[in-house]
Amino acid sequence: MLRMAGHDLLALHALVKADVLEAFGKPLGVGKEADVYDALTPGGRRVAVKFHRLGRISFKQTRRLRGYVSEGVWADWYIRSRSAAKREFKALKLAFSAGVSVPEPLARNRHVVVMDIIEGTELANVSALPEPGDTLVEILSNIRKAYVSAGIIHADLSEFNIIIRPDASILIIDWPQFVYKDHPNARQLLERDIRTVLKFFKRKFDLRAELSQALDFVMGLADTLPEFT
Ligand SMILES: Nc1ncnc2c1ncn2[C@@H]1O[C@H](COP(=O)(O)OP(=O)(O)OP(=O)(O)O)[C@@H](O)[C@H]1O
Ligand SMILES: [Mg+2]
Repeated sequence: MLRMAGHDLLALHALVKADVLEAFGKPLGVGKEADVYDALTPGGRRVAVKFHRLGRISFKQTRRLRGYVSEGVWADWYIRSRSAAKREFKALKLAFSAGVSVPEPLARNRHVVVMDIIEGTELANVSALPEPGDTLVEILSNIRKAYVSAGIIHADLSEFNIIIRPDASILIIDWPQFVYKDHPNARQLLERDIRTVLKFFKRKFDLRAELSQALDFVMGLADTLPEFT
């Protein structure tokens, strides 16, 4: 029976054999559903390695309740984590080719995605922006490009999945829960993404924009940006 560390080793072994990775580094971020580390390619390029770890919390509960985690639970964990990695890799490829600001996807094996390493801070942790209005426009323009050109919706967008780079430009990360724009709940999910972003800018930077205007812009129904007040 393979547990988490076994799957991690098999994935790393495959990525080393495929000449994607050479050296493994330090943790960059630990999220609810993933661990991200830095690494080097054989050519010396720095990359980020994201290990998807779905349902880590429900595991801890199982262990507490029963004292062990059964084979079936590990198999299920692996299948769901691999599926999240596949979905994220797919979304990153679609978004990156459409010119959306996302880390460049480089490789995927099992539950592990290798992508360009990015510098910056989660929007949630940024205390000041040079031009908050410009940042909001850049975010909406990227959501629009993802929707109109790549045909996808992030569906888990928030200030925690938007990175502000040192030059104040943005990147949108963490895509495993994306949906295509023909998904039955596409409209609600897109609306929720935009509402979350607008709410953050209102709370933190006192910027107001109409949800309906922002939605029309993002869906390509209007070319004019929403007005900020
Ligand atoms: N390409 C990258 N380069 C550098 N750091 C990264 C990169 N991708 C992610 N990180 C760091 O790791 C953190 C977690 O990554 P991510 O948001 O993709 O997963 P997650 O937060 O575990 O997922 P969830 O939001 O479902 O909990 C990010 O907030 C960021 O700090
Ligand atoms: Mg995240």
